[in-house]
Amino acid sequence: MAGISRPRGTDDLLPEPLARMARVLDAGLEVASGFGYRQVETPIFEATELFVRGVGDSTDVVTREMYTFADRGGRSLTLRPEGTAPVVRAFWESDLRQAPLPVRLSYAGAMFRYDRPGKGRYRQFHQFGVEAIGDSEPELDAEVIAVAWRWLQGLGVEGISLQLNSIGDQECRPAYRQALLDYFEPLASQLPALDRERLRRNPLRVLDSKELAASGLLEGAPRTVDHLCSSCREAFERVRLALTAYGIPFQMNHRLVRGLDYYVRTAFEVWHEQLQGAQNSLFGGGRYDGLSELLGYPPAPGVGFAAGLERVAMLAPTVPAGPPPALAVLSAPPADPGAAIAAADRVRRRGIQVLCDAGGRSLRAKLSWAERAGVRGVLILGESELERRTVTARLLADRTQVELPLRALEEAVPAWLEGAKAVGEGTR
Ligand code: HAM
Repeated sequence: MAGISRPRGTDDLLPEPLARMARVLDAGLEVASGFGYRQVETPIFEATELFVRGVGDSTDVVTREMYTFADRGGRSLTLRPEGTAPVVRAFWESDLRQAPLPVRLSYAGAMFRYDRPGKGRYRQFHQFGVEAIGDSEPELDAEVIAVAWRWLQGLGVEGISLQLNSIGDQECRPAYRQALLDYFEPLASQLPALDRERLRRNPLRVLDSKELAASGLLEGAPRTVDHLCSSCREAFERVRLALTAYGIPFQMNHRLVRGLDYYVRTAFEVWHEQLQGAQNSLFGGGRYDGLSELLGYPPAPGVGFAAGLERVAMLAPTVPAGPPPALAVLSAPPADPGAAIAAADRVRRRGIQVLCDAGGRSLRAKLSWAERAGVRGVLILGESELERRTVTARLLADRTQVELPLRALEEAVPAWLEGAKAVGEGTR
């Protein structure tokens, strides 16, 4: 078709997939709320500077993937590629900073990255995440992981593994960076151009290079955990002990460094066996104790995670489907369509989902449409029903029907549906 199509890398969330994603998100919000995380929402666009300084000007996200534009006032704005920097900004710009720390927050919404679209990778996607701000205790790192883990467990997602690493902090990272440079210097001629560039700008990123992993050159590379200062080492030990207390298994992954610059100490991802390549993570996160200062605010340590909702929804098997509409109310022309409209409205007030067709088509056409819509029953309002002040209530499964008094519809319809269920169960 030659009509205008949606932009590449975006998707229309149609009723069934959207309902599925909403149920997955609701489950996440509920688990997070059980741990004391309260939901916030930040703007979809922010000052570009927030991400350049927070996420880091050498990261792929900032150099290649941002949707940046000038507004009519000439300000540089960016559609948010992630939620952590915005939530930390919101923490400082609100009363939240006066609340007892840590402040536990959750969020969900659309994120935008100009990435190469593929399976499970979009230019507009949705994240659910939590952030705990204002506390550097390592047990909190395990807590945010537990929120994510319990959520996936509750959804029945199997085949997941928690990948864990500690990437040190300002104190121990310079020496580690030097150790990496010393290791790769003699190998420079064998490195792909992209990795030589990474080595120059942000040496840690060579550790998650796919090309280098394939070449075997990473095998002997120095590991972050062997270069941690004593406080980072102790913190990491406490994270692992707390994870054990939660009963959450993890795999040490010495190459996990994460693609955003704000991380220190704990870095983690959850991988799924069915997700391959660059989009194998269901969620990622870690500690970001220096982020607040990068944004120009006083220090506030923090830790959190974000999950791709499309990816989680794709892998969650036990998301119960929402029920189809229970009833269709049909006028039978030439009877007054207003009677059907009013009747449908009255039944809806009892919390019953009702489709209404008060149009001019024949009753026959309406009945066949109701069958296809999958409703359990129909209420028919024709001229003879209106004369008798009744409606005809018909169950589509066995085509049995009764007349219900129009006057007491609010009580009669739920009772009829209840009775029909009991009979159905009795005959099964
Ligand atoms: P991230 O690893 O960049 O971390 O993204 C988190 C998750 O978002 C990924 O694991 C993936 O499921 C999903 N995701 C990322 N890019 C795409 C895409 N193009 N299409 C579909 N899904 C995608 C962050 O965003 C950090 N803010 C996480 C965090 C929170 N760290 C601390 N607190």
